[in-house]
Amino acid sequence: MTDRVEIVEVGLRDGLQNEATPVPASLRAQWFNALSAAGLNRIEAGSFVSPKWVPQMADTETVIQAIDHRPGLSVEALIPNQKGLEAAMGVNGIDRLAFFTAASDAFTRKNINCTVEESLERFAPLMKQAKDAGYGVRGYVSCIVGCPYAGPIEPAAVARVCEKMMAMGVDELSLGDTIGVARPLEINRVLDAVLPAVPVERLALHCHDTYGQALANVLTGLERGVRTFDSAVAGLGGCPYAKGASGNLATEDLLYLLDGQGLETGVSLDRVFEVGQEVCSHLGKESPSRVAQALGAR
Ligand code: HMG
Ligand code: MG
Repeated sequence: MTDRVEIVEVGLRDGLQNEATPVPASLRAQWFNALSAAGLNRIEAGSFVSPKWVPQMADTETVIQAIDHRPGLSVEALIPNQKGLEAAMGVNGIDRLAFFTAASDAFTRKNINCTVEESLERFAPLMKQAKDAGYGVRGYVSCIVGCPYAGPIEPAAVARVCEKMMAMGVDELSLGDTIGVARPLEINRVLDAVLPAVPVERLALHCHDTYGQALANVLTGLERGVRTFDSAVAGLGGCPYAKGASGNLATEDLLYLLDGQGLETGVSLDRVFEVGQEVCSHLGKESPSRVAQALGAR
């Protein structure tokens, strides 16, 4: 198992999509470039969703146009449908596209206005189109343990969606604990169900920290061989269609853990912390990251 861990920074998408006041694209781009300069190689720039549904992600193309491209950087964005794919393909400089569904029909209806099955039918040709055009393709499966509308989710339901997305040709699957209810035993059960169908190198864990279990869940993933984790600078986040979901696991907290475990990321914690401070000061809030709080008190 490799000693290197890849972090997918989702704060500018998963984080800012949930902020009451939209952040101007020029500032989002500035933060993107600062996160990239901190050594983060995979960063979500935003999503090509309906601005009626998620106004915070409008102007994602403007963010992408202002990114300083450098070798090794992967610029990533979420796509919900054909219209989103066309918009993304019209912008230069995106490396990976992420298609998102869930293990719960109730959540998927609220999030993208269709059932899980309908979303997969919709995505199949879009993923092919994206792959043929040379993009990397990520699949997100939300609600891997709990759904804000339907309650507990069976691991077998998660595995079924993963299998279908693998058959559709995703390069990577991100398992989302959308409302941050999972604990290690539940993460282990999901991995037991999913790992027979998905090679561990192609899995990512996407933990929200609502109940303070995100780091414990990451450690569980690490023990099972997962080496890609999603996190958000300053623990930004939530999902507009998952009420009560707090932020994502903070990138600062993740980095501190990984460093202590002797796992390499190539990312500077100090520099991510600085970006987080700037983001929090703009948003007028305290960072929920315990590591950021400790670093700030030095
Ligand atoms: P709909 O209302 O069924 O779509 O929404 P529609 O096709 O009927 O279109 C409605 C209007 O939106 C139309 O405009 C379309 O043109 C426009 P009108 O004719 O009324 O003027 N429209 C678009 N505009 C721009 N870009 C587009 C687009 N599509 C339609 N791509 C739709 C369906 C999927 C569009 C909508 O439900 C949507 O945008 N949902 C996005 C929800 C979202 O972004 N959620 C957050 C991301 S998921 C997440 O956070 C979880 C994750 O972090 C993992 C985890 O934590 O588990 C990934
Ligand atoms: Mg999320």
